[in-house]
Amino acid sequence: RWTQPQRVTSGRRRKPEIGVDPGRRGARGNLRVVFPAPPDAEPTAPGAVRQPDRHGRGCGGAAGPRGPASACGLPGASPGFLPGGQGDPPDNMKSFWRFLFRKSLPSTSLCQVDFAVVGLGDSSYAKFNFVAKKLHRRLLQLGGAALLPVCLGDDQHELGPDGAIDPWLHSLWEKVLGLYPVPPDLGVIPPGVPLPSKFTLRFLQEAPGPCPPEPHAAQADPPSPPSEQRPFLARMVTNQRVTGPSHFQDVRLIEFDTADSGISFVAGDVVLIQPENTARHVQLFCQVLGLDPDQHFTLQPREPNVACPERLPQPCSVRHLVSQHLDIARVPRRSFFELLACLSPDALEREKLLEFSSAAGQEALHEYCHRPRRTTLEVLCDFPHTAAAIPPDYLLDLIPPIRPRAFSIASSLLAHPARLQVLVAVVQYRTRLQEPRRGLCSSWLASLDPGQGPVRVPLWVRPGGLSFPQVPDTPVIMVGPGTGVAPFRAAVQERVAQGQTGNLLFFGCRWRDQDFYWEAEWKELEKRGCLTLVTAFSREQERKVYVQHRLREQGPLVWELLDRQGACFYLAGNAKDMPADVSEALESVFREEGGLSGPEATAYLAQLQRSLRFQAETWA
Ligand code: 2AM
Repeated sequence: RWTQPQRVTSGRRRKPEIGVDPGRRGARGNLRVVFPAPPDAEPTAPGAVRQPDRHGRGCGGAAGPRGPASACGLPGASPGFLPGGQGDPPDNMKSFWRFLFRKSLPSTSLCQVDFAVVGLGDSSYAKFNFVAKKLHRRLLQLGGAALLPVCLGDDQHELGPDGAIDPWLHSLWEKVLGLYPVPPDLGVIPPGVPLPSKFTLRFLQEAPGPCPPEPHAAQADPPSPPSEQRPFLARMVTNQRVTGPSHFQDVRLIEFDTADSGISFVAGDVVLIQPENTARHVQLFCQVLGLDPDQHFTLQPREPNVACPERLPQPCSVRHLVSQHLDIARVPRRSFFELLACLSPDALEREKLLEFSSAAGQEALHEYCHRPRRTTLEVLCDFPHTAAAIPPDYLLDLIPPIRPRAFSIASSLLAHPARLQVLVAVVQYRTRLQEPRRGLCSSWLASLDPGQGPVRVPLWVRPGGLSFPQVPDTPVIMVGPGTGVAPFRAAVQERVAQGQTGNLLFFGCRWRDQDFYWEAEWKELEKRGCLTLVTAFSREQERKVYVQHRLREQGPLVWELLDRQGACFYLAGNAKDMPADVSEALESVFREEGGLSGPEATAYLAQLQRSLRFQAETWA
């Protein structure tokens, strides 16, 4: 995946020069393709350097070593996205996607363009790497030449996404080097020497004074709604545990005040929350790296085509950088060890780091890092001499930014004006490491106590994977076990406020008195005739009872609503087994109540999916 496709200003396709750093060749290849500047372009080096970014997340990408895709006027995808899960393209790829699937594009649009597609997906989702596969097919259809079969990166791989991507990259570099051998006169960077950092960090002697207020941009324009670049700092109103004391899981109902934020949403939308590292981790990180958290710095990209992270203020304090930006709680990827090895002044530590970054050391890396879910901060603590010697310039190359987390919105503005609620399961589990593993965002949210003083959380909203029928009187069947019920709470509130009837909800949890979220509210709505609720308490009897069992029991009603009344069917919750189990139960209803054969029932479900009368939002 190339960052920032360059627009080629001269009509003629130019042959790229390729500089290869042999220290990072092969599976660890880091290859730079330099397009010589056209006569009317800005001076080339280093501005015209295009660098494949294998560390940034993205659902699919195309590279065109023989001729950049931008030569055909293709808009590019920028890094940073949230996976769709339903086979829809990531947000930052949508315009590219629309462009690419225009019917008017001639089938020769990409002739003479070589490409390679790598998808980053998760095989626990039914539509695993759907976008990458479709992109690959489409690029072929437009005349592009595939350098390699599509690479299906998989979060479920025991080595993480690298498990599939590393060998693929190895082949890619071989292929590209075969096409474009390194010119003999090209200066090469010797093995073990890092590439220059993307940024330079200049420490200030003194903390900056208060910033003068920014001049307000055109007052006439209404401010755009909050976004990743400009999140809304929402006041947390409540943070309440909603699971009983004897339940192992800490689930929180969290409410934010969104008055005067410009935030608006409908049922099915999601809120993105930008978490931060704990103060304890920030302090430890600074200690291990020998950084003063109160020192301020300014950041400058070394290359004109690299932008500073928009969310970072300038000047910025080290504390701000570490707490808000660097994802020190993530499990580091192999590239982290690779760069760390280059930066390490300590022979012993370097040897270990080199092992972890070598192809032969992947099993050892898996045992050390991936299996126990060791964090970046913990790794740095294990390599103290290396950590203490990391040049601050490299911090942003080494450690990716903290990504926002998406949560289904659990309330409707029609029932709770100027409020936004989410249901958050606090992620905590044990591995062989002594410290329990904690989810960064959920643990951070759970730790915030609005009773102790004002608490503000950066957030913004975007459409989610579920959309509810606009046509009045369309019944809805919703299946949401556990926290999967969250988007349906919003939908029921919205539909009840609009006077829509025909709301059938299947909810499953372990015990009636421990994790039956919003029990009183559902009961009240049932009493008013606004809702039909079917529950499955999995652990209140000897044999497990799940939502799909109830769905089968309610077969005649489900078939009547779907087949006779044109109902829409929704499913939300854990991506592991539940979606497949529920789909299977649905098909059995079609067979038994609708008299369909096996293949007919499968086709019936597929048709519901195609017409968006079956929608699912699942998470791993
Ligand atoms: P369990 O934990 O007792 O197995 C919310 O998490 C509810 O979903 C729980 O009652 C949980 O039951 C249940 N659940 C677990 N696996 C499921 C599956 N494959 N399909 C449906 N529900 C499931």
